[in-house]
Amino acid sequence: MRAPDEIHTERLRLRPIVRSDADAIFHTYAGSARATHFMPFKTHQHVADSLAFAVRCQDCWRSGAAFPWAVIETASGRMLGNVELKLSPPQASIGYIFGDAFWGQGFASEAVSAVVAWAIAQPDIYRVWATCHPGNLGSAAVLRKAGLHLEATLANWEARPQLGEVAGPSHMYALIKPTA
Ligand SMILES: CC(C)(COP(=O)(O)OP(=O)(O)OC[C@H]1O[C@@H](n2cnc3c(N)ncnc32)[C@H](O)[C@@H]1OP(=O)(O)O)[C@@H](O)C(=O)NCCC(=O)NCCS
Repeated sequence: MRAPDEIHTERLRLRPIVRSDADAIFHTYAGSARATHFMPFKTHQHVADSLAFAVRCQDCWRSGAAFPWAVIETASGRMLGNVELKLSPPQASIGYIFGDAFWGQGFASEAVSAVVAWAIAQPDIYRVWATCHPGNLGSAAVLRKAGLHLEATLANWEARPQLGEVAGPSHMYALIKPTA
């Protein structure tokens, strides 16, 4: 099962991350201490770190292990962030990060809602889920706007190097579709 290469919304174009995105990834979000605060990976120190991530994204598209899109503002062509979808029928999971220069303009809600809507519309997908740090109020708001609901708090779920957590707690949000 594969995700579409491109998803278009009112203001955004989602397209596969490629290795030439490394510089923009680094400067937009991956090298930002603010944007990566709650993330499960270390803030990138060099563009080489973002290049390794971009190469991994290309490999994911090839193998189908995950579908990481660059989120591009259609009008300006600027990269705003990324959204990644993993398809493991009957469930699909999402993750995302946006550059802090672009927060508060509804971009994450617009992109994440479109990906969630695509995923839950697939006949073999019955659950779309995401986790976030209990203190990540912005991310929780994005998930609620995309139609997900808080299901549980998971103990020891995720490492968060910027918070010094080797196995920190996460809120599990999910959108469920009836099986019959
Ligand atoms: C979380 C994140 C994706 C939100 O991106 P964004 O583009 O600012 O989100 P939106 O503009 O679509 O905002 C969605 C809602 O969240 C609210 N919100 C955003 N940041 C918030 C915050 N820090 N506290 C409370 N609410 C917040 C907005 O007010 C908005 O609600 P509204 O439409 O009712 O006004 C962005 O802050 C980010 O990339 N953070 C770092 C990476 C991250 O945490 N990723 C998720 C890991 S689980």
